[in-house]
Amino acid sequence: MNTKSIRFRLIAGYTGLITVVVLGFGIYTYMKVDNYLRLVLQQSLLRRAEAIATSLKTDIYRLGETGFAKQVQVRYTPEQNDRFIRMSERRQGVFYVSGQPIDRSFAASKVPLPGDWPSKPATFTVDAGGGSKLLLEVVKVNIPEHEYLVELGFSEKDNDRVLRGLLTTLLIGLPVVIVVAATGGSVLLQRTLRPVRDMIDKANEISHHELNARLPVHYTGDDLERLSITLNQMISRLEESLQNSRRFTSDASHELRTPLTIIRGELEQLLARKDIPDSIGDRVASLLEETDRLIGIAEGLLTLSRLDAGEALRENVHADLGELATTTAEQMSLLAEEKAIELTCLRHTSAEVKGDRSRLKQIIVNLLDNAIKYTPQHGKIRIEVRAEKRHAYLEVIDSGIGIPKEDLIRIFDRFHRADSVRSTAIHGAGLGLSIVRSICTAHGGRAYAENVADGGCKFVVELPLAD
Ligand SMILES: Nc1ncnc2c1ncn2[C@@H]1O[C@H](COP(=O)(O)OP(=O)(O)O)[C@@H](O)[C@H]1O
Ligand SMILES: [Mg+2]
Repeated sequence: MNTKSIRFRLIAGYTGLITVVVLGFGIYTYMKVDNYLRLVLQQSLLRRAEAIATSLKTDIYRLGETGFAKQVQVRYTPEQNDRFIRMSERRQGVFYVSGQPIDRSFAASKVPLPGDWPSKPATFTVDAGGGSKLLLEVVKVNIPEHEYLVELGFSEKDNDRVLRGLLTTLLIGLPVVIVVAATGGSVLLQRTLRPVRDMIDKANEISHHELNARLPVHYTGDDLERLSITLNQMISRLEESLQNSRRFTSDASHELRTPLTIIRGELEQLLARKDIPDSIGDRVASLLEETDRLIGIAEGLLTLSRLDAGEALRENVHADLGELATTTAEQMSLLAEEKAIELTCLRHTSAEVKGDRSRLKQIIVNLLDNAIKYTPQHGKIRIEVRAEKRHAYLEVIDSGIGIPKEDLIRIFDRFHRADSVRSTAIHGAGLGLSIVRSICTAHGGRAYAENVADGGCKFVVELPLAD
């Protein structure tokens, strides 16, 4: 779990807050209910105690203490009602105490006698065995020459039971509320963040493909809307500047080509003249070579800018990669022969692909050109074509100088040439492989290079088979 994520922090914060609120509410409710139950019990005890006190005032002369005690016993039957009643006279002491209650919630004999007799009705909570407390209401009755005390009690057991029930409900309810809140919050957040995920997905697509797509805008009227609009404006500016740079490359290479071709023609004419000394002829030949390189660069750049502009698939036809490889190899066999290189072409299976024939041929030309260029005299070059599962594979394997490990990926970048070849007399602009990669990508495939065990390297082109 990522504890730094916004999602985690939001849910944790929000669940924590809910926990505190629910816990506070639970404690408050518990205390309120506790108070309320006690108050209700206390009031009912007070009412009865005062009723006994009133009848004591009127009946004690007539009935005497024993007679009055009997009357209370008959009228209130405290044992049946689980109540405690005790009556005392200041000098004589206790003259009546109720018996054991039916529910055994307290032991009547164990209820302690009060030390001081309160002048006003008072409530005490006393321990009287049986596990629970006894709520005791004490009322003093003054009549001439006598002072009586009426005590009426009731166990708090029922209240405790209600409170225990409430506590259980709260203890079960609290985790449930927290789990529901956390889950609900997570689902809500998931939904709220969906527009952000949409934007991420779309942004990924845009970076992998073309810049003409835009992020979805959710008109929420808040930061999310502003974010998507701002990002879209940024992509627009990027697209514009990319187009500008492509246009510049395309225009520049196009403009360079014509004067370079003219220079080349002039140099060729000059070289053909018999009346110039050899020393100058050599220089002219060298100039001609450099001009050829410049033309190569201009053409490479023009091709790349056209590929960038989406011109890689001017036609979309079926082409047999094996046949294309064989004819191209034949056409380039002279170059190989000049270096006494053995060039073979193996077609394992037929490999039909769909695309632009001339561009596909360009892939093979560029790879073969490199293989011949970077393989010394008497070397070997093998082209293999096969189909496997859903892809056609074209491999160009040579016995040449190989590629340093750190350059294996970068050689497909524009103008990148391995350091090992820069220092040699083998010329090149470093654009051939980037053209290969552009064409492969446009055809839904890829190209990569690896070194082979006994020296040399292998270039693999993987293209989807035509269905
Ligand atoms: N068959 C090969 N053997 C060894 N190195 C190669 C081979 N093909 C390409 N390379 C390396 O990849 C670099 C880029 O190739 P490429 O784009 O065709 O440019 P260029 O051929 O103009 O140098 C080359 O400069 C070279 O370092
Ligand atoms: Mg090349």
